[in-house]
This record gives sequence, C-alpha cells and structure tokens, in this order.
Amino acid sequence: MNFNITLLPGDGIGPEVVTEAVRVLETIASKYSHTFTFAERLMGGCSIDKYGSSLIDETLADCQSADAVLLGAVGGPKWDDPTAKDRPERGLLALRKGLGVFANLRPVKVHPALMEWSPLKPEKLQGVDILVVRELTGGLYFGWPKGRDLKDGRERAVDTLEYYDYEVRRVMELAFTLAKGHRKKVTSVDKANVLESSRLWRQIATQVGRQNPDVELDHVLVDTASMKLITAPASFDVVVTENMFGDILTDEASVLAGSMGMLPSASLSEATIGLYEPIHGSAPDIAGKGIANPIGTILSSAMMLRHSFKLEAEAAAVEKAVDEVITDGCRTADIGGKLTTRQMADEIIMRI
Ligand code: IPM
Ligand code: MG
Repeated sequence: MNFNITLLPGDGIGPEVVTEAVRVLETIASKYSHTFTFAERLMGGCSIDKYGSSLIDETLADCQSADAVLLGAVGGPKWDDPTAKDRPERGLLALRKGLGVFANLRPVKVHPALMEWSPLKPEKLQGVDILVVRELTGGLYFGWPKGRDLKDGRERAVDTLEYYDYEVRRVMELAFTLAKGHRKKVTSVDKANVLESSRLWRQIATQVGRQNPDVELDHVLVDTASMKLITAPASFDVVVTENMFGDILTDEASVLAGSMGMLPSASLSEATIGLYEPIHGSAPDIAGKGIANPIGTILSSAMMLRHSFKLEAEAAAVEKAVDEVITDGCRTADIGGKLTTRQMADEIIMRI
C-alpha cells in the first residue's frame, strides 16, 4: 500500500527523533512491501525563523492532504518572549485545529524493566495500562473570548472553557469504543462540582455510558484523579478528559513509565488523517547532542501504522521490537544508559 506522510520535525530534539522514526518506517515499508512517501515541512520556531509564522497556510494544506503527519516537537527558549506576536505552540494548536484532530490518545504502559526508573514503588506499577483520551480541539485552549485588555483601569486576561455537546459526545464515544478493546472501563475526569462545562461533560458521559452498558463508567473529579494516578495508577483503564486537564494529567502519568521519552501519542479526527507525536517537548538542553530517546516518536509511528493506515501487524512489529530492546537492556541517557538516538533506533530496527 502507498501512503503519504508529512514530516514536521520542528525544534530542539524534534529533528533527531523524527529522523530515526522515519528509518523505522522505511524498514517496515521494505519488509512488508509498502511505499511511504515523506515530505518534510517547517512548523514551530523553525517556521517563525524562516517565514515569520509558526504555521504557514501551505504547510497546513500539505498536512491536510497527507495520509498522516509525524511531528517531533516545537518550542525553545529562543521563541519564549511572552510579548512575541507568534509562538511555536500557536502553530501546533492551529495544526491540531486545522486537521480536526479532536482526540489525543496517550497510552501509558510501564515496562517491567523500567520500573526502577519511576519514583513510584514497583508494586504500585504492577498492571499499569492506561489510555488517556484527551479532548484536543476545544475546552480551555480554544474557548472564546480569550485575550487581554484594560477593564476599569486594570489589566485583565481572559481564557474561556467552552464546550459544545457534539464536541464532548464525539470524544466520549471514541473513548467507549477504545475501552472495548481494553479492560472495558472508562473514567471520565471533570470538575463538575465547580464548572458548568464539566456538568455538560458529565451529562454526556452518562448518556454515552447508557448506550454502552458493557463498559463500566465512573466519574472522577480532576483533583482526585491526579491523586489516584499516583496512589492507584493500576485502577485506571481508559481516561477521557478536557483538553487542559488531559495536558496536565498526561505529564503526570508519564512519570509512571520512567521517562517522558518513552511515550507516544496519536491525535485522531473524524477522517483517517491523524497527527502523531511523542508527548515529550523539544528538550533544548540536550538538542543537537544526538542522545534523545527516540522511542516516543518510534511508538508514535507505530500508532500511525495502526490508526491511520490500519496496518495492525506492522504496528505490532514495531511495538514488539521496542519492548525487546528495553528487555535486552538498551538504554538512552534518560533511562540510565549511554546509547545515542541513532544506536537505540538501530537496535529497534535490528529486531523488526
Ligand atoms: C502537549 C504540549 C502542548 C499542549 C504545548 C506544547 C502547546 O504540552 O502536547 O502536551 O499543551 O498541548
Ligand atoms: Mg503537555
């Protein structure tokens, strides 16, 4: 099969990890007789430097017409000026919105050989297999009004947490569908004791829950959820939540896996186009050294094979190879080793 993949390596370690994921995809292509065609574009700080904009229309259009988009990371101290007109992060949000990728899947599993890298006791980590479904194109990140002004002689800043029923319903329905391939449990995380938007969220979760009686549903307040992620992480299966709650909870959950560098994500739309990116950032402190862990991006490309291309066997082959390298003791610096980004990818490629 033929697929077109737009690459957005971005900033910092982004290009280093994307290069290795591409080599893994090329290995899959030759082993399973597919053709993947890659087109590389700029997005984030590098795009500000070249075009004066973090995401130009042509790049968005190229992404929209591709079969999938693989992204590294965006941002860095160079573009951190709070008064700047554009920021690398704005490009990422515009890309998510422009692709309509409303659901961000962030699986969190703990490899037994990496348990010592988590600050949690190994017995707490037994059986952790969480899939966070973060709503990605609504909520506090996108609600209107938003901005700064002067009101009654005082400086004011506003963000709005806004949801329409259909936005909650589509991400909720996807969470229930995914739960059927998991342990059939959905935890809907909200702040319904305070926020009106969370009461709508909970109402729709309850409705979708009634339509899916084979899946257990519980509602947990976000503050409680953040605590239970640490005290009883194995009690979660699929977790579905608002955009910013999901942003915060997934960084927290990444600690369970020992390193953020291990974790992939897939952002899905109503169409087949998907956006795939590791959950880690651009890591400016180690950028250019060739020591970043490529596993998060490589596992993101496995999610691409599964969700956008429906190539389940190929996706499983990549995941198995990653599992084996960890079992075999291959380690980049973030997980206590000395392998370079390239060497880690080589080890994975050897096992595919
Ligand atoms: C993430 C990141 C982004 C987000 C930033 C870079 C805009 O933290 O993907 O989790 O907040 O969504
Ligand atoms: Mg984040």
